[in-house]
Amino acid sequence: MDTLTRSIWTDANYKHALKMLHDRSGIIVGEHKMKSSERLLEGLRKEFGFASIDDFLNALEKDNDHAGWPAFINSFTINHTAFFREPHHFDILTKYIEKHRTDCAMWCASCSTGEEPYSMAMVLNEIVGEQAACSKIVATDIDSQALKRAKAGIYSLDKLSGISEERLRRHFLKGNNRFEGKAKVRPALSARVEFSELNLMSFSWPKPAMFDVIFCRNTMIYFDRDTQVRLVADFARALKPGGLLFIGHSETLATTTDQFTLLGQTVYKRNNR
Ligand SMILES: C[S@@+](CC[C@H](N)C(=O)[O-])C[C@H]1O[C@@H](n2cnc3c(N)ncnc32)[C@H](O)[C@@H]1O
Repeated sequence: MDTLTRSIWTDANYKHALKMLHDRSGIIVGEHKMKSSERLLEGLRKEFGFASIDDFLNALEKDNDHAGWPAFINSFTINHTAFFREPHHFDILTKYIEKHRTDCAMWCASCSTGEEPYSMAMVLNEIVGEQAACSKIVATDIDSQALKRAKAGIYSLDKLSGISEERLRRHFLKGNNRFEGKAKVRPALSARVEFSELNLMSFSWPKPAMFDVIFCRNTMIYFDRDTQVRLVADFARALKPGGLLFIGHSETLATTTDQFTLLGQTVYKRNNR
C-alpha cells in the first residue's frame, strides 16, 4: 500500500470539501475526519482521473449527477452502530408492536450497516411470527457502501456478542470455512427489511402518513438546526397519529412542536392533530 507523502488537504480545500458535504448531505464534520477521509479521497481522485483534489472537488461541484458523489459522501459518514443499541427503545418497541400486531409499518431512516433495522426485525418476527405477511421495515441511508454491507447481512460474531444465544439461533446462520467467525441473517429476517438509498437532505415526505414507527437515531446530531427542524416536520407528516419517533440518546426534538408528546427517554408519540 503506498503512503501519502504530502497531505492532499490544505485549510482551503478541506473547508471547501466540508461545505460541499454539508450542502449535499446536511452532515457537519470537523477536523477529526481530515485524516480518515484523506486516503479515500485520494483513491477517488485517481479513480476518476483528476490531477489534483481541487480539480476533483470542482468537477463534483459543477455536476450534481457526477458519479463520484456517492463515494465522496461515503468518505465522511460516521457509521457507528450496534445491534439493540439503546436497549430501552426496544422494550418500548416491543410493547408497541404487541399492541398493534396486525400491521406495523416501520422506517429506519439512517440504517448504516443494518444492525438497527435487523434488531427491529427481530423484535417484529418474535411477536408476529416469521410467516406473517403484514409489517415491513423500510431501511434507508445515504451511504451506499454501508447499505451494501447491510443488504449482505453478514456480521462478525463479536458484533453479535450482545445478542442472546436463543436470538442468535433463531435469526442467524453461523458461517463455516471462509465464513468462520461470522454469521448471516436468516432469510426470514432479511425478508422483513427493504433497504434503499435515501438522502434525508433532499427528501420531503410526499404522501399521506404511512408509518407507525420511525427510527432516526444518532444522525440528526450531525445536522445543523434548520435541517433538524425540517426533518422533524417531515417525520411528523410521515407518521400516523399515535405513531412513535425514536431519536438518539444525545438528541432532542429540534423544535417545540405540538405534534409530538414525549413518551419515554428520546421516544416521542405523534399527536392526533
Ligand atoms: C452514527 S450512524 C447511526 C446509525 C444508527 N441509526 C444507530 O443509531 O445506530 C449515522 C448514519 O447516518 C447516515 N447519514 C448521514 N447523513 C445522512 C443523510 N443526509 N441522509 C441519510 N443518512 C445519512 C450515515 O451514513 C450513517 O450511516
